Amino acid sequence: MIDLLTAGRHRRDPASTLASMTHSTLNPATDDATATQPADGSHLELTQAERRAELDLQQLKQLVGLVDYDIDKDPFPVTGWDAIVFVVGNATQTAHYYQSAWGMTLEAYNGPEHGNRDHKAFVLRSGSIRFVVKGAVDPDSPLVAHQAKHGDGVVDIALEVPDVDRCVAQAQKAGATILEEAHDVTDEHGTVRVAAIATYGETRHTLVDRSRYTGPYLPGYVAKNSTLVRRPDAPKRLFQALDHIVGNVELGKMDEWVGFYNKVMGFVNMAEFVGDDIATDYSALMSKVVANGNHRVKFPLNEPAIAKKRSQIDEYLDFYRGPGAQHLALATGDILRTVDELRANGIEFLDTPDSYYEDPELRERIGEVRVPIEELQSRGILVDRDEDGYLLQIFTKPLGDRPTVFFELIERHGSLGFGKGNFKALFVALEREQDIRGNL
Ligand SMILES: [Fe+2]
Repeated sequence: MIDLLTAGRHRRDPASTLASMTHSTLNPATDDATATQPADGSHLELTQAERRAELDLQQLKQLVGLVDYDIDKDPFPVTGWDAIVFVVGNATQTAHYYQSAWGMTLEAYNGPEHGNRDHKAFVLRSGSIRFVVKGAVDPDSPLVAHQAKHGDGVVDIALEVPDVDRCVAQAQKAGATILEEAHDVTDEHGTVRVAAIATYGETRHTLVDRSRYTGPYLPGYVAKNSTLVRRPDAPKRLFQALDHIVGNVELGKMDEWVGFYNKVMGFVNMAEFVGDDIATDYSALMSKVVANGNHRVKFPLNEPAIAKKRSQIDEYLDFYRGPGAQHLALATGDILRTVDELRANGIEFLDTPDSYYEDPELRERIGEVRVPIEELQSRGILVDRDEDGYLLQIFTKPLGDRPTVFFELIERHGSLGFGKGNFKALFVALEREQDIRGNL
């Protein structure tokens, strides 16, 4: 299985993984290696994807803020992310883009050549993250209408769970919409048990137990490797894990969806930003964050707030034609190198005003970080600090034609926040872009 998936691909050198993580020594909060050792009765284990990506628990604690918790008290245990599924207008070209620009590797495929006359689907990986991009082949495919309405976007935030039936029973009891009852899907590689529940807009959570399956993704998919030849000196990968996915919901609906994640899925509230926390003179939003027990899966949920002009959330809701996933935060151990590589590959990021770095109040709050501030300024990387440590982050411009989905890169150093202190600086930059598009 592992050989099949990694055949013909670069393997991550464990030494370089370690080297990229040494910044943790700057942060006392992550220095205690024993902190992530499973204690008696704990369930903190690496997922299969993390083991295959040669990550360890200490790295994951730093990368995505992984924590231990008592799974036995969890009504809806979630292990972590299974896959992020996108529907796009042209999956063939999108899959190429994620490989050539984002350094992802192709590992599986399904399409007309394998009996799927409806659409093509490409399964891509970076570290422990699996992306699936689907595009219609049949003009009558339901994917055509979905893409026409929403543009390219995330249709499914699939989660790995140890017990699909237990989760569905809990979801049913708590009043969730069950889109697919629990059932087995089988092929020569074994059996996957799946179910699906509805979340905001036309987004779903497929629940996946693949513990009895050895195939490359799901039954019907065949292993397939990238034909792209990488530069010999290119890094093995540009990011290692998925930190969070932000959902944009309609005005007045944020608390409803926070309640959904609390009651249906047993998620806990992590942080809360309201009113002035995320407001410029012209636009505002409210945001709350929910996370699963071990914090691998974190969902900030945004709703627009009343302000003088339309916020970036309003713009998203208009162009996505409703609620949906706004951004995916990709965790990296070396954001400077990642940003340099991505820029060289043609990826565009939001500009950060020089004033952001020269503001004395901000400098004071940032304190000392692992590199001189000029290194961050030249790349437009933002810094935020809280009582637990700091984080470095940067946001791309929209990935597709509509001003909807984008990526964030994040390098955590103890901080478990989401860059609250950067929101205002960021939104000023976002609004400048929005104004240029004529949507402010
Ligand atoms: Fe974020």
